Amino acid sequence: MFDADGPIADEILGLWWLLLVLGTVVFVAFCVVLVIALRRGAGDTDRPAPSAGSLRRFVFWGGVGVPAIVLVVVMAFTVDSMRSIPGAASAGALRIEVVGHQWWYEIRYPDHGVVTANELHLPVGRQVELHVSSSDVIHSFWVPGLAGKVDMLPDRTNVLVLEADELGHHRSQCAEFCGLQHARMRLETLVEPVDDFAAWIDANDTPAAEPVGSGAAAGLDVFLATGCASCHTVRGTTAVGADGPDLTHMASRRTIGAVTLDLNRENLRAWIDDPHEFKTGVDMPPAELTDDQMDDLLAYLESLE
Ligand code: CUA
Repeated sequence: MFDADGPIADEILGLWWLLLVLGTVVFVAFCVVLVIALRRGAGDTDRPAPSAGSLRRFVFWGGVGVPAIVLVVVMAFTVDSMRSIPGAASAGALRIEVVGHQWWYEIRYPDHGVVTANELHLPVGRQVELHVSSSDVIHSFWVPGLAGKVDMLPDRTNVLVLEADELGHHRSQCAEFCGLQHARMRLETLVEPVDDFAAWIDANDTPAAEPVGSGAAAGLDVFLATGCASCHTVRGTTAVGADGPDLTHMASRRTIGAVTLDLNRENLRAWIDDPHEFKTGVDMPPAELTDDQMDDLLAYLESLE
């Protein structure tokens, strides 16, 4: 959050610094008064006792007056920040839907027909309206460098407006304890130049390409026959499972298991072989494949660019 890359995150960071400075001043002042009181209590009996009037004034200002002033100042700045953070996006904003699952993010671009997982692509400089919900328990969506935090709830959709004005890469994670692998429910946010984002949409709004080569073609059969397809969708095939991430263009992603492992052949093999070795408790069962079936399946998955 200290690396704010957008106007909304800047606003929140400014408010955070104000709270830190005010809190520090109050804490230091309190410590000074406490030390003075302790020293007086430790036997400095020559001093005349303070008058009842000055004690009352001290208690009033220390206990009511100064705290009230500090709280009014904090409230004024907080309300001002809340007013400048939009609750709804302006016309022309990009709509994205994010659904929390135990323990990964489903990400949809409904105006473009793109569905992906755990990798949020954003165009730089364009306002985004995120519609955030959950398929199971309460999660919390938070990309600290871009916007505030919002709950992902199973029974309603929350809207979060954000905007990134700098190119970059943010790694974040679920911010509400949601079960065993809460800490491995991670998200990558990639803020891209407008042209790169458009190219990414073009590459991802299509059905999967036909597998090329005998290994990949056999891998599709393994995918459809051994149970992968009952949980995963690959658009353009008969695999339409909805419980796990859409894999139509999975080979273009950077990681697997919600940013648990980098995407490469060894990691993908190990993950499919037994995901619980890396992420105990996930719904995906260990695969029971022969070595040849595994090789074919990997060839097919790697063809899903
Ligand atoms: Cu999802 Cu914590």
